[in-house]
Amino acid sequence: MAWWAWLLIQSVVWCCAGVLAVLWWLWVTKPHVDIPGPPTLPIIGNALDFLEHPVTLHKIRDFHRQYGDLMRFYAGPKLVIMVAHPDDVQHILVTSKLVERDPMSTSAMRTFIGDGLLTLNGSRWKTHRKLINPTFHSELLGNFLEAFHEGGLYFSERLASDSAGGAAPADVHTAAFFGAMRSFCSAAVGADPDRLIPDIPEHEVSTSLRHVLAVVQTMMLRPWWRSLSLLRLTSEGRAILKYYGHLRKGVEEAIALRSAATEEGPAKTRRRLLETLVKPGGQTTLPVSEVRDEETLRLFPVVPMLSRVVGEEIWLSKGQVPVPKGAILFVTPFLTHRLPQFFPDPLKFDPSRFLEGRSGEEHPCSYLPFGLGSRNCVGSQYARLEVKVFLATVLRRFRFLPHSRWEDLENATLTITIHTVKPIEVYCVPLQESGL
Ligand code: HEM
Repeated sequence: MAWWAWLLIQSVVWCCAGVLAVLWWLWVTKPHVDIPGPPTLPIIGNALDFLEHPVTLHKIRDFHRQYGDLMRFYAGPKLVIMVAHPDDVQHILVTSKLVERDPMSTSAMRTFIGDGLLTLNGSRWKTHRKLINPTFHSELLGNFLEAFHEGGLYFSERLASDSAGGAAPADVHTAAFFGAMRSFCSAAVGADPDRLIPDIPEHEVSTSLRHVLAVVQTMMLRPWWRSLSLLRLTSEGRAILKYYGHLRKGVEEAIALRSAATEEGPAKTRRRLLETLVKPGGQTTLPVSEVRDEETLRLFPVVPMLSRVVGEEIWLSKGQVPVPKGAILFVTPFLTHRLPQFFPDPLKFDPSRFLEGRSGEEHPCSYLPFGLGSRNCVGSQYARLEVKVFLATVLRRFRFLPHSRWEDLENATLTITIHTVKPIEVYCVPLQESGL
């Protein structure tokens, strides 16, 4: 064997041995906690438990059934704890004031949405939050009603045309998504939706959205996929990037229009998100964050997991279990919302359980679709009002009958938002024809 080949083999062997030694050291010095969880393998921890893709609600519910309200996992040597009990939710989100999101999720999200409230931590997060908070203040919501109404009409028209008079099932998520997108363009960005929303067939856009959410999950679990160059190698990746490019161009155009303005325009109390973030002349710009649109927030909360990094040791389970600094916590509203001690007969869809005097009595933190504490949803009031306007618009026009089954809803991927693997379809029977 040539000397250089021998040298090369030796170098590779020593490098591998070095990497293995470091990984082994990280593994044996990993933090330990007295919390039940699935068995681990050296170095890779619980990686094999998440090999099957996508990770769905089913999977985490199975773990929950097996291990209870506090579950321990290892992502390699990194300690990850899933939390379902509202006492611990309260301690993490409200009392301990943990505000840092974990780097696994934020760096995956950053690939698509850049540096915004969802992905920032520390002082930059505080600055963005202070800037954006007043934009969604309840006193200003009245200004958005017209935009919500237009979005609701669009949603309703889409359902009418897709459902062919109630004969065919309509994809309710796509219709609601585009309605919400239109409202957001005019309410928050102040731009004509037809200009901002890319001129791409809607089915392509909704497929792209589905792919984006699946890709973000892959990126969280498999860090080597966090590269746009790798993404470009797949046809799905190229479709995502094409749509993303169009959307970014639209937002940049709206920002440019605002920057080109020479004076402030609307009075301070009537400012839209973009007007708050971009001054005439074009200073400060922040990326416009995503729109979220769903209808049932307890059984399928839109944001399925809220991550926090433990900055200093904290104690969970009523002070019984110490969790060391550096661990990652995932608060899981979709599990909390199904705990029978707080929501009797939890899988029953029974909106009347939220009637005055019936909801949240048992525990102030058992229902948290919009999160809690200082990092809660900045758009919660906006979203609640929008959902009401959309519902009022479509309920006046259709009677809804199910097409998708319960299992289709449960077969949902967990990423930034919860997303069913198959579209959610319903029959929309026009009210005149249903005789109501
Ligand atoms: C039904 C609709 C929505 C639901 C269920 C929802 C839910 C949530 C939840 C649970 C969080 C907290 C995440 C955490 O604690 O880690 C959050 C954060 C956030 N939401 Fe929403 N959201 C909705 C709509 C919206 C809308 C319409 C906007 C913007 C217009 C928005 C903007 C944000 C932002 C920027 C954050 C990050 C806040 C921060 O980190 O400081 N959301 N949302």
